[in-house]
Amino acid sequence: MHMKRTHRCGELTTQNALSRVDLVGWIHAKRDHGGLLFIDLRDRTGLIQLVINPQQFANLVNLHTESVIEVQGEVVLRSAETVNEHLPTGQVEVSVEWIRIHNASDVLPFSLDESRAENVSEEMRLTYRYLDLRRPSNYQRLLRRHKIAAAARNYLNSNDFLEVELPVLFKTTPEGAREFLVPSRINPQQFYALAQSPQQYKQMLMVAGVERYYSIARCFRDEDLRADRQPEFTQIDLEMSFVEADDILNLVEGMLQRIWEDVLQQDLQLPLKRMPFREAMDRFGSDKPDTRFAIEIQDVTGIFSRSAFKVFADVIMAGGVIKAINGKGLADLTQGELKSLEDSAKAMGAKGLAFIRVEESGWKSPVSKFFSEEEKAELAKTLTMEPGDVIFFAAEKWDRACTILGRIRTDCANLLQRRGRMSIDGNRFDLLWIVDFPLLTYDGEAGHYVATHHPFTAPVPDDINLLDGNPHTVRGQHYDLVMNGVELGGGSIRIHNCDLQRRIFHDILQIPEEVVEDRFGYMLRAFRFGAPPHGGIALGLDRLAAMLSGTTSIRDVIAFPKTQRGQDLMCQSPSPASQKQLRELHIEFK
Ligand code: AMO
Ligand code: AMP
Repeated sequence: MHMKRTHRCGELTTQNALSRVDLVGWIHAKRDHGGLLFIDLRDRTGLIQLVINPQQFANLVNLHTESVIEVQGEVVLRSAETVNEHLPTGQVEVSVEWIRIHNASDVLPFSLDESRAENVSEEMRLTYRYLDLRRPSNYQRLLRRHKIAAAARNYLNSNDFLEVELPVLFKTTPEGAREFLVPSRINPQQFYALAQSPQQYKQMLMVAGVERYYSIARCFRDEDLRADRQPEFTQIDLEMSFVEADDILNLVEGMLQRIWEDVLQQDLQLPLKRMPFREAMDRFGSDKPDTRFAIEIQDVTGIFSRSAFKVFADVIMAGGVIKAINGKGLADLTQGELKSLEDSAKAMGAKGLAFIRVEESGWKSPVSKFFSEEEKAELAKTLTMEPGDVIFFAAEKWDRACTILGRIRTDCANLLQRRGRMSIDGNRFDLLWIVDFPLLTYDGEAGHYVATHHPFTAPVPDDINLLDGNPHTVRGQHYDLVMNGVELGGGSIRIHNCDLQRRIFHDILQIPEEVVEDRFGYMLRAFRFGAPPHGGIALGLDRLAAMLSGTTSIRDVIAFPKTQRGQDLMCQSPSPASQKQLRELHIEFK
């Protein structure tokens, strides 16, 4: 079969009038006007209207939509009253003279009509993902993702980076996210783990003298899935030698600017804001704050330092804090909405959620009767309380008080948006860096510190002497990139000194000697053979593509995503293995 395609459907304009064209594509829609048959023919560039004489091409009349055809004909100008302003090719149509049917389609399991997409379940769409992807909106998302990756590649290539592919079959390292294990047939009872990220390999590339590495890396984590988490996802991953944190932040900012320019045709204003972790928690109750709206958390511990309200006084006595937030204009909260705010606070570990509704007639609150006149006056001032407002309190340990009100903050913003009292511009991208994270976080259950990010992050040099006495005060040289309340990326300057790395593993994280040797022995050895100072970062490509496409689910920007249950509905995986395969892998099920 010889295909002579001369043009693409979506690209025909008045310039092509009177030329003969050969087009291929899918029958997007069919309208039978008795004497004339109109077909919208679609390829990935768009639609063009075909005009067909049904007597001449009777075999077309009963063809279903989504059948694949090839046509030849003449491009003709549409008369003024038949011009379709909504279609880029709407000035012209193709008068068909020859047709070949490449493949007649069955009736589709669901309509591909964009306006009816909402009515089709995601289960159905993922089962027939190859049909779902034919929708122009889905094709546009794949295209946008491709452009983002291409812009990143171009930028990094022009900055002297080497793209290096790193192994996906890695070694099991049980800390961190849960990993996928792969049994080795050749080495009975031994396993690989699918790499959660190329972290350790990219550090070894720095030891190897590559200096600047990047890859668009596939990562695997067996986590509980959500809208922004998939078991396999992609990072724009990079690592550099002989740099400090500032160099990496500047480089990434340049890359983002390039992506914004190439993909959105927008000028991203640099430098991005930098906010210490502590400030982000204090003001927004999150290490990935959505800074597109102004509601902020206030610390009111000082106001209640001698309070007669026992709940607050006891918390302060025990070293906790009182934090408050003003849900401006939400005093008309319904009982049901209040209850669900309380539930979300409790889910974050709150013991209660004291509140005040500020009404014209006075305050309505289960707790304000315990406040002195002085406390009330100070509160009203600090929180700029006005009739119509509602105030929420969290009396807890600092970090918990922050995260509870951080959640209440976003819940309030959602309620305000639903009431039309707040609007967030969908095209606005609030990017910022969060810096000065604590290197270590105490794990009460384990009874020792764990790495806030990963154990390879270098401490801030000035803080190294605090590692022994005050580990919780040591800052890590870590940075997170945050956009609109989503963590887009994270990275750090790494430890490149064998003794310091060993001390972190052994003394601080309390990993037994033999386990350190087994898992990280090669790395410690590598650091004794001239490891350069180095650092890097990884950006979540799926999250970036989703946000730049205006969707909240990364499933929308992944060609063949998994469901919340980790299944690929199209090819029905995971699925059982045969007895023979299992035997070869030395796996026995009792
Ligand atoms: P981290 O674990 O923070 O860092 O991952 C970097 C970025 O990857 C994205 N991401 C995910 N996206 C989709 N689904 C997931 N399950 C998922 N998990 C993470 C996020 C995140 O910010 N090796 C380090 C980076 C470094 O230190 O250089 C790392 O993997 O956008
Ligand atoms: P209680 O004395 O436990 O009945 O609490 C009185 C009020 O204070 C109720 O409205 C609780 O929701 C609220 N409350 C209790 N504990 C806390 C807390 N730790 N933080 C904020 N509010 C609380």
